[in-house]
Amino acid sequence: FLPLLLLLLLFLLFSAARLNSSAGLDLASGGLSLASDPAGTVNFLDMVDNLEGDSGRGYYIEMTIGTPAQAVNILVDTGSSNFAVAAAPHPYITHYFNRDDSSTYRFSGGFVAVRYTQGDWEGELGTDVISMPKGPNGSITINIAAILSSEGFYLPGVNWQGILGMAYPLLARPDPSVEPFFNSLVRQTGIPDVFSLQMCGAGVSSSTADPAGGSLIMGGVEPTLYRGSMWYTPIIQEWYYQVEILKLEVGDRNLNLDCKEYNTDKAIVDSGTTLLRLPVNVFNAVVETIAQTSLIKDFTSGFWMGTKLACWTKGQAPWTFFPKLSIYLRATNTSQSFRITILPQMYIQPVTEVDVNLDCYRFGISSSTNGLVIGATVMEGFYVVFDRAQKRVGFAVSTCAERGNLFLSEVSGPFLAGGVTSDCMGDPLLKEPLMWVIAYAMMGLCVLVLLLLLILLVLPCRHRRGRDSVITDQSSLVHHRIK
Ligand SMILES: *[C@@H]1O[C@H](CO)[C@@H](O)[C@H](O)[C@H]1NC(C)=O
Ligand SMILES: *[C@@H]1O[C@H](CO)[C@@H](O)[C@H](O)[C@H]1NC(C)=O
Ligand SMILES: *[C@@H]1O[C@H](CO)[C@@H](O)[C@H](O)[C@H]1NC(C)=O
Repeated sequence: FLPLLLLLLLFLLFSAARLNSSAGLDLASGGLSLASDPAGTVNFLDMVDNLEGDSGRGYYIEMTIGTPAQAVNILVDTGSSNFAVAAAPHPYITHYFNRDDSSTYRFSGGFVAVRYTQGDWEGELGTDVISMPKGPNGSITINIAAILSSEGFYLPGVNWQGILGMAYPLLARPDPSVEPFFNSLVRQTGIPDVFSLQMCGAGVSSSTADPAGGSLIMGGVEPTLYRGSMWYTPIIQEWYYQVEILKLEVGDRNLNLDCKEYNTDKAIVDSGTTLLRLPVNVFNAVVETIAQTSLIKDFTSGFWMGTKLACWTKGQAPWTFFPKLSIYLRATNTSQSFRITILPQMYIQPVTEVDVNLDCYRFGISSSTNGLVIGATVMEGFYVVFDRAQKRVGFAVSTCAERGNLFLSEVSGPFLAGGVTSDCMGDPLLKEPLMWVIAYAMMGLCVLVLLLLLILLVLPCRHRRGRDSVITDQSSLVHHRIK
């Protein structure tokens, strides 16, 4: 009977997955609008400057976990969906969350292993109460992955002990039933389903002693953190913060690639990725155009590949040699677009103290085989609003992306989305790759189980042990940051 039950279960799961794949885009969240003031329970100004850190080592927020409260710093990552915290010592971190000292910690009975290409962490799933000294008032109970062992996850000298995944449940490990932090926060405090991020490391060299800092505003938008208009682009699918890119310009020159190239695999907004990452074809076109536009001939290819620095005599800022870079995003009025522009100061990034007589810089753009990533290099120019309630991401010029009297970023629109009338997302079947993969995998599994059943009918039943969930994730921060 056991195999038969299993078969039935698989069919049920299969139909559930199919259902979600067709309805996935319509599962709108709460619906609270930005305008609604959350009854005086949140004061956004109290959250300003609640982040420390920089693009190279990540931006983190202070939290307390457990009873009595244990203080930890947690990295803000919009490219993943687990709240994971160090729960065992490691040579690179100063302290960790001690579960035995917390009377409110509960083991939920599962384990989780997250594997990256260049590292991994493993831990147990539990729940505990947290609160944020510079966040919404009150404490909430959240899912915690207590990291017991890891490799290549922490970096020497980092000042954070955990990671706060701010993306959607679909990315949660081991499965979407582990409610992500922000979902729990919204459900338990009643704040609007919106958060916004200002990261202030633009033009700051990534190893100065004084970290740049920033703000994570939970529950809405703080008007003092941006200038000019806020432009919104629809969230294409709620897993990563996936957006649609229509066009790229280097200086005044349109790259003129098929717009599907820009969204190859996916295009996402990810605070946990250091650089602007571009699909290989797009990257090559950008580098070629920058090389042609910049007045510097025969620039070493190692600089573009990220293996070499470029150095100028001290005081000779290289900015004038390089063009601006513009990304056109589809506007919420889908027949329009708007563009976000970064000055070369944002992507030719200072690196401290290599040689006392020289100022050295690295290239803040790299190539990618798993999609376009609007990482910290770009985000630092903008105040970015993750408006989950209205399924859109907003960009406005950040008040901290300024050097002297010069703004390092621009936002402008509207532009007619002409020439890109249809969509740039490629084959519609690929729009929801995860669900389709799951659906087909389950279909395959069902066929396999059917065949196995015939064999099992003449063999004794064997009980299988449950296993840890092991996944691979190539797109999160640990892989693509620069020390
Ligand atoms: C489908 O969606 C429902 C509700 O959103 C969820 O409870 C269920 O687990 C999902 N099923 C799968 C297979 O992801
Ligand atoms: C928390 O509550 C205190 C006292 O009621 C208030 O002054 C403060 O602004 C609140 N903080 C936030 C972030 O809402
Ligand atoms: C959307 O943009 C088009 C083209 O600019 C314009 O004609 C139309 O009125 C806009 N629609 C809305 C609802 O604003």
